Amino acid sequence: MNASMKNRLRIPALLAVLVLSGNSALAAEVGENWTKHCASCHGKEGKGDTKAGKKADAKDLTDPKYQASFTDEQMFKQIKDGMKDAKGKEKMKPFGGILSDDEINALVKHVRGLKQ
Ligand code: HEC
Repeated sequence: MNASMKNRLRIPALLAVLVLSGNSALAAEVGENWTKHCASCHGKEGKGDTKAGKKADAKDLTDPKYQASFTDEQMFKQIKDGMKDAKGKEKMKPFGGILSDDEINALVKHVRGLKQ
C-alpha cells in the first residue's frame, strides 16, 4: 500500500473508532488525567497499593464499602479542594487549579467505575 492510500484509510478508520466507542474522546481524556494526576497514589486500578499511596494511606477505591462512604458531591469537593488529615497535614492536594469542573466530574464517574 502506498502512502496516499494509507492516508485515505486513516480518517474513516478514526471516525469509525469514535462512533463505535461513543464518547471515547472524553473517556480517553479522563483516563489520561487519572494516569497523570491520580494513579501515582491510587494506582491504575484504584487499589491505592503504590508506594506513594501506601505512604499517604490511600484507601482501596475498588472496595464498594469505601465507595459507599462518600457521595459524588463529597468526592468532587475533595478532588477540587484537596484533603487534610486531623493534624492539618495534606493527604491529597487540591486539583481545582489544574483540572476544570468538567474534568473533575469525569473523574468522579471514573472513580465510580473502579468499584468491583
Ligand atoms: C499524594 C497522593 C494522592 C494523589 C496524587 C491523589 N490522591 Fe486521592 N486520596 C489520597 C489519600 C491519602 C486519600 C484517602 C484520604 C482518607 O480517607 O484518609 C484519597 C482519597 C481519595 C478519594 C476518596 C474520596 C473521599 O471523599 O473520601 C477519591 C475519590 C480520590 N482520592 C480521588 C483522587 C483523584 C481523582 C485524584 C487525581 C485527580 C487523586 N485522588 C489524587 C491521596 C492521593
